[in-house]
Amino acid sequence: MKALIPAAGLGTRFLPATKALPKEMLLVVDRPAIQYVVEEGLASGADEVVIINSRDKKVIEEHFSPAPALVETLRQKEKHAFADAVEYAGNLNVSYVYQDEALGLGHAVRCAHEKTLGEPFFVLLGDVLVPENNMLSRMKEISDAHAGASVIAVLPVAEEEVSRFGVIDGVAIGEDVWKVSRLVEKPAREDAPSNLTVFGRYLLSPRVMELLEGAKPGAGGEIQLTDALDALLQEEEMYALVIKPTDGFDTGTIESWLETNNALYARR
Ligand code: UTP
Repeated sequence: MKALIPAAGLGTRFLPATKALPKEMLLVVDRPAIQYVVEEGLASGADEVVIINSRDKKVIEEHFSPAPALVETLRQKEKHAFADAVEYAGNLNVSYVYQDEALGLGHAVRCAHEKTLGEPFFVLLGDVLVPENNMLSRMKEISDAHAGASVIAVLPVAEEEVSRFGVIDGVAIGEDVWKVSRLVEKPAREDAPSNLTVFGRYLLSPRVMELLEGAKPGAGGEIQLTDALDALLQEEEMYALVIKPTDGFDTGTIESWLETNNALYARR
């Protein structure tokens, strides 16, 4: 099973900071955001972690490449902890596929279809962090308990915030598990079927890759993963794992990135 990390977006909300530095490379306490995501993917038991990258964001690949000269310099200066950290990042086992144009998250995921070999796969958004690395294994357990169905992570938010997110409709079937019947993108507060919002971690059935083939642009002119998940719901079951606000962190806006830094710094 592969873990796909889409990281080819434009990072518009952070401009001009992201003019030359990818959003996924922004610092979170002591390392770039995407390093947490790669570590989580590797901890999940996935046999390969694949970053879906843009050809303009090579600095992501540089971060995950060995830097023997730097390590040597640090060792000569007896800065062994830093040398170890550099070596560790350079040895994380990642591969890459490319999205040549940022046509949307659904399009980015489809760019990795040859990697997934018709098997279920994880999608980990490159700007969402799960520092304890435990969410994917829990999602796999839920999938296994339901004949390999797709499972998405959802985060409860305050009612006045639902209209900023994708929201699920469905029924609770356990303490933290829902059976999903519908996905609603950015509903008005009074139309929201729940306060459970789609949160950056997915375990998806291989049918999603087929549904993404030739998918048409949806909201914002982008090829949306949510549209493919909606189509999937017509054919297959889907479950949601309800996570706690302390389990996952969004770094996708300036405000949430600052909050994530503060929260994770305080945890050290
Ligand atoms: P976002 O919508 O949060 O990222 O997508 P973005 O598009 O870079 O940000 P804005 O909206 O312009 O500010 C979530 C993840 O999906 C990736 C992004 O890199 C991010 O990690 N993504 C998004 C792609 O890989 N390709 C796309 O076409 C869109």
